Amino acid sequence: PVLVVDFGAQYAQLIARRVREAGVYSELVPHTITAAEIAAKEPLGIVLSGGPSSVYAEGAPTFDDTIFELGIPVLGICYGFQVMARALGGTVGNTGDREYGATAATVVGEGGAILGGQPTEQNVWMSHGDAVQEAPAGFDVLATTAVTPVAAFGSPAKRLYGVQWHPEVKHSDHGQQILVNFLHHVAGIEPDWNAGNVIAEQIEKIRAQVGDARVISALSGGVDSAVSTALVHEAIGDQLTAVFVDHGLLRKGEREQVERDYVESTGVRLITVDAADTFLGHLAGVTDPEEKRKIIGREFIRSFEQVQRDLVAEAKAEGAPIKFLVQGTLYPDVVESGGGSGTANIKSHHNVGGLPDDLDFELIEPLRALFKDEVRAIGRELGIPEAIVGRQPFPGPGLGIRIVGEVTRERLDVLREADAIARAELTAAGLDGEIWQCPVVLLADVRSVGVQGDGRTYGHPIVLRPVSSEDAMTADWTRVPYDVLARISNKITNQVPEVNRVVLDVTSKPPGTIEWE
Ligand code: XMP
Repeated sequence: PVLVVDFGAQYAQLIARRVREAGVYSELVPHTITAAEIAAKEPLGIVLSGGPSSVYAEGAPTFDDTIFELGIPVLGICYGFQVMARALGGTVGNTGDREYGATAATVVGEGGAILGGQPTEQNVWMSHGDAVQEAPAGFDVLATTAVTPVAAFGSPAKRLYGVQWHPEVKHSDHGQQILVNFLHHVAGIEPDWNAGNVIAEQIEKIRAQVGDARVISALSGGVDSAVSTALVHEAIGDQLTAVFVDHGLLRKGEREQVERDYVESTGVRLITVDAADTFLGHLAGVTDPEEKRKIIGREFIRSFEQVQRDLVAEAKAEGAPIKFLVQGTLYPDVVESGGGSGTANIKSHHNVGGLPDDLDFELIEPLRALFKDEVRAIGRELGIPEAIVGRQPFPGPGLGIRIVGEVTRERLDVLREADAIARAELTAAGLDGEIWQCPVVLLADVRSVGVQGDGRTYGHPIVLRPVSSEDAMTADWTRVPYDVLARISNKITNQVPEVNRVVLDVTSKPPGTIEWE
């Protein structure tokens, strides 16, 4: 692999993704890793990420400098670049001149192996206070800016390179090319990381793990469980049974998407549990968001366990016991729960798909090493319908946490109609790429006066919450064009009689979360 050393910036994951986009498998490791540990992993290259500190600050993330003597090609980025400069005998100083955001950089000479062939003047994205003043002996200066005399350097002999700016962000003009140059040309890595290879590799692994035992999988309708289930099915066919719990809190058309389109395209054996009555029964009279979440989570587990008992009994009778459970865990979940690196444990969402710990199964987690965009690529390769692989995030508790107030069947019907209209219009306007997700929320306990037709109405408002985001940790409200908003508003108020007002949520996250509950 290529190892991406995490110095605590939120950029390390992004770097790892960009490395994979360049066709090279990458893994995140903490900055506390030693040279011996690195050597044991036999990496083909190392990328040092940015970080929030000054290299001279007390408590600044440390790094084992002997790693630079292993003969492994290294690319340092931002803080990683400065760590490199200092370790190798250059100087890093604080001039008091900071650079933040878009900055003009000038390539020096031919630009070396990483900037070679690129335009001399480029716009790059910076975020630093300290700067490298002098490159280490034997290193060529490859770029400068108005305030940074050494904005990039490199040594072809040692195969060590660094840039002050962030090549992994889209605002840096030729950023991805820098990574590609480093990986393909400096480190000489053959790009072979692609959906087809990952599938082939996983299929082999799953077959070896499972043997002739039986496997079950909880299908939620979301991307991760859809792809992990299809992948396992590809490996072991009908040794797998997928279970889909319809909790009555799904959006319009979602059940059909799973039962019809997904099953048709993958051939997965599916059992649907019709649990809407049970869920709505337990949700009756409940308005507190956390209580709703708890009830939905608990009932999900109960429904799942019910089917599980039946399936286990059936499998036992047939002499091939169920031993495994499929989970759609992704690499960011692994990293964020501290399993992959030293990155801070930020927040782990308890998926309603998240099953109890005491289930007597071994887990199959075929997506554990993958990022979301890779999961989508694999899903497409496996022929899963676009409506599922391209789906925006939807919370496990479903529409249950998008009705502010008590959840009832009638209110769910109202919200389902309004949501379907909003989604269709946003898609028709070509905004799916720009919008991370757009919760549509029914304020069921709020009423306002309106006039519809000739009469006075006393209806409910619908909130549109379109947000743009990279990872849902932070988000901004999306500037949806007024005419699109107008169409959504007109259609909803015309077609959903209970709604007489449509409002737009213009709050970023923080302070507002993406969901309302
Ligand atoms: P918030 O509202 O915390 O949401 O800004 C961040 C992201 O997480 C999704 N979300 C959930 N996903 N189970 C999930 O699988 C949940 O219980 C849950 N709650 C929120 C939310 O839609 C957004 O993408």
